[in-house]
Amino acid sequence: MDIDPQTLPQREVSKLLSGTVVPRPIAWVSTISVDGQPNLAPFSYFNVVCPNPPTLLFCTGVRGIEPPQKDTYTNVVATGEFVVNFVSEHLAEAMNITAIEAPPDVNEFERASLTAVPSAKVKPPRVAESLAHFECRLLETIAIGEGAGGGNIVIGTVVHMHFDDRVFREGNYIDLEAFRPIGRLSGSAYCHVQDSFSLQRPRSELRP
Ligand SMILES: Cc1cc2nc3c(=O)[nH]c(=O)nc-3n(C[C@H](O)[C@H](O)[C@H](O)COP(=O)(O)O)c2cc1C
Repeated sequence: MDIDPQTLPQREVSKLLSGTVVPRPIAWVSTISVDGQPNLAPFSYFNVVCPNPPTLLFCTGVRGIEPPQKDTYTNVVATGEFVVNFVSEHLAEAMNITAIEAPPDVNEFERASLTAVPSAKVKPPRVAESLAHFECRLLETIAIGEGAGGGNIVIGTVVHMHFDDRVFREGNYIDLEAFRPIGRLSGSAYCHVQDSFSLQRPRSELRP
């Protein structure tokens, strides 16, 4: 099958993109509005950029209805801060509840019966039940496309990391068996990350 995405409706393109780019990690992003209203929502268009400086990005879509921008994006742009909370298996249901499309005055921490705890260096609270959190400051946003179906790339610098003792191991390793993150597939499907295997890294031909 060969497809020119420009010939397909946006919904079909979306199905092909998110059905093929799998599994995706999930950034469970907490923010706070300028009025101090906490917000929490999951974003699977998410990844790491580089370690120096420690940088990550996630993307928020633009809706075809009011308000076009997600609360997360509005809050990040207004305050310059956000926290990426990580979703382990035991938090899957709660994470799903926080994906609710709701007005800005809805506190998703309360909706999902989650505990908001203060962060060390930024104003948005963390999800106490998460086993890892990255506190971030906004570096840059990049708008892609125009109107509905477009998106925003949100690039942040990680200024503080928290790891629960249950997942952190000496030597700066994360215990995958204890962390038990989930991944997003297409539609309503998710995956576990337990069935892993190893490959020997090719020897560098650049270093002596
Ligand atoms: C697992 C999962 C991943 C999601 N990933 C994204 C994403 O990458 N980009 C996006 O715009 N919305 C994504 N959503 C939908 C948002 O979470 C949803 O629109 C949410 O209501 C946004 O909340 P906010 O307006 O409070 O920011 C995802 C939903 C789920 C359940």
